[in-house]
Amino acid sequence: MKKKITFLGIETSCDETAAAVIRENERGAAEILSNVVSSQISEHKKFGGVVPELAARAHLENIDYIIKTALAESKISLDEIDGVAATAGPGLIVCLTIGLNIGKSIAAFANKPLIGVNHLEGHALSPGLETKIEFPYLLLLISGGHTQFLIVKDVNQYEQLGTTIDDALGEAFDKTAKMLGLGYPGGPNVEKFSKLGDKKFFKLPEPIINKSGCNLSFAGLKTAVLRESKKIKGDNQMKYNLAASFQNTINSILYKKTKIAIEMFKKKTQIENVKLVVAGGVAANKTIRENLTKLSDEMKCRTIYPDVKFCSDNAAMIAWAGIKRYKKRLLDKINIEAKSRWPLDESAPYMKGPGLKL
Ligand code: KG4
Ligand code: ZN
Repeated sequence: MKKKITFLGIETSCDETAAAVIRENERGAAEILSNVVSSQISEHKKFGGVVPELAARAHLENIDYIIKTALAESKISLDEIDGVAATAGPGLIVCLTIGLNIGKSIAAFANKPLIGVNHLEGHALSPGLETKIEFPYLLLLISGGHTQFLIVKDVNQYEQLGTTIDDALGEAFDKTAKMLGLGYPGGPNVEKFSKLGDKKFFKLPEPIINKSGCNLSFAGLKTAVLRESKKIKGDNQMKYNLAASFQNTINSILYKKTKIAIEMFKKKTQIENVKLVVAGGVAANKTIRENLTKLSDEMKCRTIYPDVKFCSDNAAMIAWAGIKRYKKRLLDKINIEAKSRWPLDESAPYMKGPGLKL
């Protein structure tokens, strides 16, 4: 019988300390032997966002326990794993270094290969944990730090079609929640309170909607939310209306830009039966799922969403990316360094900052 590959994954790129033990099953998807995530929400709540030094300290305090728990729950000993995958970037350097260094130590101690995983590749391949998906597919990656359309051609092979030129989508949700005093974490709270509001109440802008292909922009929308939020003061119903209008505008932007991305994907790949994968923390949003499924149905595409527990940061997706890279012999040396910036498509133009031409 063919040996099933098993990996320990470690994730500390932002505010979740996570470890998981994942094994490839005979159907080419994953058996989740353990998936442990410790969220630092309570630590950062009072600051309304992630404070890097606090995050790093919390990782240091928890990581040992989280890895031990993941190994114990999996009932697998270090001897039985095939390798260690730890997130090496992009993210907060002070946080990444903690998980990566522990990963290096475990790999060296257990004499196993080490893979430094790109966190974005973890999100990109995450739907494969549940179902085998053939390459290529179109990926909309929407998280706290990134918003991108990519063609996923294979493991380690990505072509960027579009990206945000300013804020990431998760960041726009988090800032909106902060401006409206809806608490932290922002995204889930905006979704929750939007249900109580009138989504047509405020007319908000859709920046660069008719230009720059499937590139996106949210800064102007954020400024408009700030302007309106100052007018409504303590009126709760108006707050909910603004949250709902913001979310509705996001859905309108995503609908139009994803439509463009699907056309671009078809043209570049000559494939008509498009598979659209929506991954990353914001992909947990139900209204976004419904909106993109509607578009996808209209365009005769198939949408694939990872389970909500694999949308937000987790180590299962890191171990899974590790397994996929291991099978292609994409191993790393023990001196691999953490990187704060690490695009999946290194050849894509950098789309932020002054002088940007759209
Ligand atoms: O992928 P993720 O866990 O971390 C990063 O890699 O950044 O994404 C976190 C982001 C946060 O901005 C959070 O507010 C957002 O995902 N998020 C949501 C929802 N759940 C999480 N945004 C909108 N609606 C949600 N239900
Ligand atoms: Zn993430």
